[in-house]
Amino acid sequence: MMASSAPVGVFDSGVGGLSVLADLRRELPHEDVLYLGDTAHVPYGSRSEDDVIDLTERAVAALYTRGVKAVVVACNTAAAFSLSRVRSRFPFPVIGLVPAVKPAALATRSGKVAVLATPVTLRGQLMRDVIRDHAEPLGVHVEGVVNLKLVPMVEAGLADSPQMREELRRTLGPLRDAGVDQLVLGCTHYPFLAPAICAEFGGAFALVDSGAGVARHTRRVLDGAGLLNDSPAPGQVTYLVTGDVEAVRPVIATLSAQNGHSGEHLPAAA
Ligand code: SIN
Repeated sequence: MMASSAPVGVFDSGVGGLSVLADLRRELPHEDVLYLGDTAHVPYGSRSEDDVIDLTERAVAALYTRGVKAVVVACNTAAAFSLSRVRSRFPFPVIGLVPAVKPAALATRSGKVAVLATPVTLRGQLMRDVIRDHAEPLGVHVEGVVNLKLVPMVEAGLADSPQMREELRRTLGPLRDAGVDQLVLGCTHYPFLAPAICAEFGGAFALVDSGAGVARHTRRVLDGAGLLNDSPAPGQVTYLVTGDVEAVRPVIATLSAQNGHSGEHLPAAA
């Protein structure tokens, strides 16, 4: 039996899940969070599906042994193929991320939506299901677009840098020219690219991500399982990383500040 006072585990391949953490903290301000970034193995996007499933299972197991009451897989690539496996192996709710195709398909005026994501995410069943259920019935065209350099650049602290803007010009320019008006950020690292995308493309694209939706869903799941923390105290976040703690410390501090948090509890080795 899980205690409602236990922390919620949040897992990502690296620092991208911090974008989801920001929404979780807004939606669930009294929950403690144990954030695990698998920075020793990031990026997941260029790995095989079996590799991603194994790494995801190991990460969820590490959170399980630390006593979390639920896990949010705050990594689209990890969620794409691993959810049913981890749900069958662990005795707590596991919440995954689905690319935000539905709101983008409802909002598009040009009928053209692009999903910026990793190849693993684009191949996954979750992606196929949301396109079939929410884009095809509206006659909306969904195009997947990949740039494997973006995640390592966010991990290296280059989310808003001249190099990033160059990559974004190359990757997103053709989509703007083709009339895409909704850009789904199908990787939790990408909300951190919003300032660079806006600087390059102005209002050409509406940027759509899954953070607020997954935070609301997490609240419903915890509530349904009787696991909402009823303490009035503000929740605390503890960060663990599997890779080099010192290297990632300034990146977590910068991205936390971009989220409006000070990043006061900086990471320890997992
Ligand atoms: C990656 O680790 O390559 C991507 C993470 C994500 O899809 O959210």
